[in-house]
Amino acid sequence: MTSDTRAISETPEWQALAQHHREVGDRHLRDLFAEDPQRGTDLVVTAGDLYLDYSKNRLTRETVRLLAALAERAGLRERTEAMVRGEHVNPTEDRAVLHVALRDPATGGLVVDGQDVRADVHEVLGRMADFADRVRGGAWTGHTGERIRAVVNVGIGGSDLGPAMAHQALRDSTDRSLTFRFVSNIDPTDLAEATRDLDPASTLFVVASKTFTTQETLTNAREARRWLVEGLAAQGHGGDSEAVARHFVAVSTNAEKVAEFGIDTANMFGFWDWVGGRYSFTSAVGLSLMVAIGPERYREMLDGFHTIDEHFRTAPYEENLPALLGLISVWYVDFFGAQSQAVLPYSQYLARFPAYLQQLCMESNGKSVRVDGSPVDVPTGEVVWGEPGTNGQHAFHQLLHQGTVLVPADFIGFAQPNDLARDRDLDGMHDLFLANFLAQPRALAFGRTAEEVAAEGTAEAVVPHRVMPGNRPSNAIVAPKLTPSVLGQLVAAYEHRVFTQGVVWGINSFDQWGVELGKVMASQLAPQLQSEAAPEYDADSSTDALVRLLREGRGR
Ligand code: F6P
Repeated sequence: MTSDTRAISETPEWQALAQHHREVGDRHLRDLFAEDPQRGTDLVVTAGDLYLDYSKNRLTRETVRLLAALAERAGLRERTEAMVRGEHVNPTEDRAVLHVALRDPATGGLVVDGQDVRADVHEVLGRMADFADRVRGGAWTGHTGERIRAVVNVGIGGSDLGPAMAHQALRDSTDRSLTFRFVSNIDPTDLAEATRDLDPASTLFVVASKTFTTQETLTNAREARRWLVEGLAAQGHGGDSEAVARHFVAVSTNAEKVAEFGIDTANMFGFWDWVGGRYSFTSAVGLSLMVAIGPERYREMLDGFHTIDEHFRTAPYEENLPALLGLISVWYVDFFGAQSQAVLPYSQYLARFPAYLQQLCMESNGKSVRVDGSPVDVPTGEVVWGEPGTNGQHAFHQLLHQGTVLVPADFIGFAQPNDLARDRDLDGMHDLFLANFLAQPRALAFGRTAEEVAAEGTAEAVVPHRVMPGNRPSNAIVAPKLTPSVLGQLVAAYEHRVFTQGVVWGINSFDQWGVELGKVMASQLAPQLQSEAAPEYDADSSTDALVRLLREGRGR
């Protein structure tokens, strides 16, 4: 950790940025591009297969230099090294933060808190691969001897979003003879819909929960077990515990709770408290994804992560793709007052990527106190949202182009379509898709002036409505194709973007105390809804009235 305990806004580097913002903050991208013909080819960085064009941001080369200096001042280098060495960089939970070890190809030699974490990681990866091969090859059968045809991942938050997002992203690499479903919500319709057309005899549940105490997951898992046991009994097959052993596996850090639930710990794939929930996608939480794409492609994905982990650790900040993403966002959040960040993948396969990033970014950096407990001195985490292009263009892009709020946007595109589209001879459509991927950032940046609109013969009264102000910032991230490796690279880039922001803001990006109160209140309110007799209304007048209304609605 840096020895400088000053609030970040008091450092000379921050003040230099504030002064610089006064000088360049109002400059228009049209002028910045006109003055600097190399801008579009110079303000780019590459890392692995990722190409980041950040030229359409409201910054200059000097801004990047100042932001890099800010990262150094904040101690990003030291904090990164402390993290990868296994120091307890999550002090409020007294934990190491070692998701980078999950994808490290090295198989040993990193001892943290008395454990060789790399050896542990590879031991579990080996067991996962063996299991995935057995399910995929038909050697792992259900209770009745039938092979597994459907895999249902039951988990929520970090135990759902990673594999669910990645299964969709890599659908083209999945075994299409298997069906995959992801159940997360305690809304009973989620489980009911996910299982309604499945045969219990050929269904496998992967119950993923770091703590194995999460209300949503345990409730869904219990109901899934009931569905399985009753379904098998209806087919004439008894033997509850034998059935559960063949149809339920667990992914968790908590062997005791797994056993308590009734899953044989021989069928448990472990991970460790140094893996945060939202950073757990490359732990055993990826099991259902590994079954879907196979161990080999899964390893390619892990290698993609590792490529960016190494790049982040070693590249100077002015050429460091994840650090630049984080620093550019600090520039907008703290100096322009931006409060949101759009992520717009031009890939239908990445439809769940914004949702995945919402947890990663907002659960990590939605904080109001610094690591030492003092209030933050500058605005922190932004609201992250998005939808795949081109759908978003016909929904919310109007606001991006002409609204009154500044929304920096990340556009993500791929040169090649995936094989399914190519096999169907739909490759040509991809050019139209990419034309939109190029057009939107261009329109956002350069817009259209009143003179240009008028010159097209537009009626005078309509001119102001058709003016496009431009100067709306965006990044373009381009990769050759959405492969497992590229997906790993993208996710790792955003993970380190989040870390960069968190270090600059001086916050702990690895705890999430803000989610606890709601959980406690839900368990206090559940009996009020469940009890047959009228409960004691003792919350607040609004909640009490709503409980009454809902009880009435449920006939109580
Ligand atoms: O919502 C809080 C949270 O703890 C997330 O951080 C986590 O990913 C999710 O719940 C699920 O937790 P678990 O994996 O322990 O079930």
